[in-house]
Amino acid sequence: MRAEKPDQPDSPDIRIADHEFRRFCDFLYRRTGIVFGDGQRAYVERRLADRILAAGSRGFSDLFARLLVEPDELEHLISAFTVNETYFFREDYQLRCLTSTLLDRITARKRRSQPIRLWSVPCSTGEEPYSIAIWLLENWPHVDSWDIEIVGSDIDVQALKAARDGIYSERSLMRLPRPLVAKYFTALTDGRYRIDDALRGSVQFSQVNIIDQGDTGPWRDMDVIFCRNVLIYFDDMARRTAANNLYDCLAPGGYICLGHTESMSRISPLFHVCRFPEAIVYQKPGEGGHA
Ligand SMILES: C[S@@+](CC[C@H](N)C(=O)[O-])C[C@H]1O[C@@H](n2cnc3c(N)ncnc32)[C@H](O)[C@@H]1O
Repeated sequence: MRAEKPDQPDSPDIRIADHEFRRFCDFLYRRTGIVFGDGQRAYVERRLADRILAAGSRGFSDLFARLLVEPDELEHLISAFTVNETYFFREDYQLRCLTSTLLDRITARKRRSQPIRLWSVPCSTGEEPYSIAIWLLENWPHVDSWDIEIVGSDIDVQALKAARDGIYSERSLMRLPRPLVAKYFTALTDGRYRIDDALRGSVQFSQVNIIDQGDTGPWRDMDVIFCRNVLIYFDDMARRTAANNLYDCLAPGGYICLGHTESMSRISPLFHVCRFPEAIVYQKPGEGGHA
């Protein structure tokens, strides 16, 4: 008797044809703004193969079909392709600029009853918005007399879950002075550190795709947006889309801080360039005038 051929192979087919690679890169670009070229094909294929195996898919076509209808699968995929590298007090010259200059200018045009709204987008696993909170507590004498709202947003829901959990490795904390680690964290038995509950409660987290106007639309009147170290992964068109969306989210006279390798002048003419001693930041013109 001839053995029956199984309907499905035991192991999935993880080879990806040229047209599938291009189709996938185009799909990922439209969903996230992140650009992968031919030079990164091996990297993309490795991650896709991992997702095919982890999702129990039969191969690329099967996974791709599921991405279109299963939101969980799409979230896993986006997590697999985002670079979440971040750490506490990264590019702290901008935090210095925030407390030495930006907040004075922002509070000068506000009433005490109005909140100061600071947005870390993308926030990855939370180090950036928590750094802003710690920096303000340590360095801004008016911290108790203003209502300060700090929001952290990212496209990657797994990174956001880690941000909400607030548990960090030594590596994440490498730039944070030890007395501040002792003050704001509890050491866990596995060598990691949990951030204080009060600090954890001071940041609100939410999923936002910065190239999707439907996602950024509800966010308005931000005084400062920290949009650091994501535009490097985009092409010009996605950068422009992100810049336009974030412009709409800023209050008139509000500021946007980019990563040190990124420059708004090359992306959008909408903003004024403000050169402060500590940092270059970009301002939405309007009420309150230029910096
Ligand atoms: C390298 S981290 C930067 C984190 C932090 N801003 C910093 O500078 O340390 C880049 C983050 O951008 C997020 N990201 C990528 N594309 C995005 C998009 N279209 N919208 C929102 N976040 C995105 C990734 O999930 C990742 O967490």
